[in-house]
Amino acid sequence: MSGKVQNIIFIGFMGTGKSTLGRMLAEHMQWSFVDCDERIVRKAGMSIADFFAQHGEAAFRALETEVIQEVLYNQQQIVSTGGGSVLLEANRELMKNGGLVIALTADKDTIIQRVKHDTGRPLLQGDAEARIEQLLKERAGAYDFADLTIDTAQESIEQVIQRIMQMLEEG
Ligand code: S3P
Repeated sequence: MSGKVQNIIFIGFMGTGKSTLGRMLAEHMQWSFVDCDERIVRKAGMSIADFFAQHGEAAFRALETEVIQEVLYNQQQIVSTGGGSVLLEANRELMKNGGLVIALTADKDTIIQRVKHDTGRPLLQGDAEARIEQLLKERAGAYDFADLTIDTAQESIEQVIQRIMQMLEEG
């Protein structure tokens, strides 16, 4: 089946392991790895935090859509998307048409542990724990359009990769 899948697209809340897992799966499958956040930084010429501060979230979302469109024009890539990219219908459509969409999840405490020392996420500024709680509530169900959902707090990266590879082989 891996021959038929155009791309594998990871969606999920911040700190669910999209980039970490994406990198490892890409290595495993010998596909290229694309991190949409990194592409945005390159295109904008500044960090995501600076972009949010200077241009605001709406401009960030517009740039994010542009990047998703450009990236999904290509094939045989493992794509890691930003946690909020699923909020726009246009992005969801691009993803559904662009490949196999895998949602990564983790419980609130795991997410907090993974991201609490990270200063690069503008939406978590201030009381990160309270922001995570609020955003998780606001985004409940937002990742449900995925073809497959995997809880990364319950399985090791190696187990998750094995599961995805098996699924691709079985078709
Ligand atoms: C965001 C998640 C971030 C990044 C930006 C906004 C969000 O990506 O795109 O800070 O709205 O959830 P990660 O999910 O890779 O942290």
